[in-house]
Amino acid sequence: MQAPRRKSPRTGLPDPSILTSQLASYFHKTTKIPLYITVLSIFFLAICIYGEDIAALAELSFWRIHQDLIYVRAVKHKPRPRLPLNGTQLHVHLPPDTCDLSAGRWVFDNVSYPLYYEEECRFLSLQVTCGRNGRKDEAFQQWRWQPNDCSLPRFEPLLLLKQLRNKRLMFVGDSLNRNQWGSLVCMVQSELRYAKKWEDGNRNIFYSKEYNASIEFYWAPFLVESNSDNPKIHSIPHRIINPDRIEGHAVYWKGVDYLIFNTYIWWMNTPNMKILRPNATDWSDHEEVIRIDVYRRVMGTWSDWIYKNVDPAKQMVFFMSISPLHINSNQWGDPNGIRCALETQPVLNYTEPLNVGSDPQMFDLVSNLTRSMSKVPVTFIDITRMSEYRKDAHTSVYTVRQGKVLTSKQQADPQTYADCIHWCLPGVPDVWNQILYSKILSKSAKS
Ligand SMILES: *[C@@H]1O[C@H](CO)[C@@H](O)[C@H](O)[C@H]1NC(C)=O
Ligand SMILES: *[C@@H]1O[C@H](CO)[C@@H](O)[C@H](O)[C@H]1NC(C)=O
Ligand SMILES: *[C@@H]1O[C@H](CO)[C@@H](O)[C@H](O)[C@H]1NC(C)=O
Ligand SMILES: *[C@@H]1O[C@H](CO)[C@@H](O)[C@H](O)[C@H]1NC(C)=O
Ligand SMILES: *[C@@H]1O[C@H](CO)[C@@H](O)[C@H](O)[C@H]1NC(C)=O
Ligand SMILES: *[C@@H]1O[C@H](CO)[C@@H](O)[C@H](O)[C@H]1NC(C)=O
Repeated sequence: MQAPRRKSPRTGLPDPSILTSQLASYFHKTTKIPLYITVLSIFFLAICIYGEDIAALAELSFWRIHQDLIYVRAVKHKPRPRLPLNGTQLHVHLPPDTCDLSAGRWVFDNVSYPLYYEEECRFLSLQVTCGRNGRKDEAFQQWRWQPNDCSLPRFEPLLLLKQLRNKRLMFVGDSLNRNQWGSLVCMVQSELRYAKKWEDGNRNIFYSKEYNASIEFYWAPFLVESNSDNPKIHSIPHRIINPDRIEGHAVYWKGVDYLIFNTYIWWMNTPNMKILRPNATDWSDHEEVIRIDVYRRVMGTWSDWIYKNVDPAKQMVFFMSISPLHINSNQWGDPNGIRCALETQPVLNYTEPLNVGSDPQMFDLVSNLTRSMSKVPVTFIDITRMSEYRKDAHTSVYTVRQGKVLTSKQQADPQTYADCIHWCLPGVPDVWNQILYSKILSKSAKS
């Protein structure tokens, strides 16, 4: 049994003025003042020029500047109940492989959830700290996923950290995988005394010194190469994919112990995708092909890479299924809704399947492909159906745009501003990670 949790007030977030004063006092003591000021000026100029993803990156870059100076001391706010210890062994009850974790229902459980508090996790980006950004209701954080035929194991950060000792775990894909990465970082950070987070090109890295373990995110929204591969400066309307080339990204995935892939949201803007013609010498030489055909080809390039580069004896590969959108409230029978903005409860009527527009062909394609990959097994984690019920858990208007939290005027216009793609943290991605955790532990127990 887990003890009920004491609520702490929403005060624990790092105050930007404190960060600034730390930075200022550092400048005062050092002789490298001009260099750092230059770096900062360029950085803040960049924030003014480029929007969207900068929000998350702004915070990361701060740590990058600091990475050689300090370790973040993650203060424990409250003791966590522990599993019974027998010698050095922690015991956990894992569901059998035959149990379908994707079929089940949401159960309100404010005793075990949330798994951490927003204000306790200093690594969260402003994009997902819905409470800090003005969201008042909290019930969306307190739902447990209950599979029909078994139960998810309780999440024990120490068990995962033990698996990750001297290892690297990396999420690869689009901003939904970054959402999940942020969640996993928060799920383990309460157990760490020293940890740091920084950014390096397309890679965001969280590192625990005690465990010599890293939890990373690599941004590659199509997995393969494209003309939009710079995480800060990329074209949204003119995305062109190079379906046969992956090495430019994949070189960074080599040798990683746990790889967790996804790719979906960037495919959904248009029914056709622009792809480079064979032997093209620049991006202008492209053609339009229907989405599913390009997706198939890209997934083929990806699986070839997996076959050639992953050693199944040493590495584990996972693929996350589609994270659903909640844009049209008619899809859950509420003509008076405004996108996902007014939702505070999951869909709790399970008599008929819900259709919120997740592309079944793309889902099946990856599901079938991963099932067929026997030489290097890939675990397909189906989060789609369970997340489709969670119309209540998106960041909605409690998020950022152009690097800034939405103004109250913008928040009052959810039809224009609500983000019904990404998820608040703590929230739904924590449950995805609970499934990932369960699979990692099950697979490790066998090897
Ligand atoms: C602890 O482990 C030992 C041997 O591994 C076993 O004999 C004993 O029953 C265990 N105790 C409990 C309480 O599980
Ligand atoms: C949990 O929810 C129940 C029912 O809404 C409420 O009575 C109780 O006070 C809540 N407990 C906590 C710890 O929030
Ligand atoms: C630390 O982890 C890396 C992989 O993440 C590994 O290559 C290295 O050997 C580890 N260091 C020690 C001292 O075990
Ligand atoms: C592309 O180049 C290769 C090697 O130069 C050639 O064999 C192939 O026919 C070319 N393909 C097309 C479609 O032009
Ligand atoms: C659940 O959905 C079914 C089919 O959409 C509907 O007939 C039924 O009335 C709903 N039940 C409740 C309790 O809303
Ligand atoms: C996936 O496999 C199922 C069952 O074998 C088949 O019916 C379906 O057409 C396949 N879908 C795709 C997109 O490959």
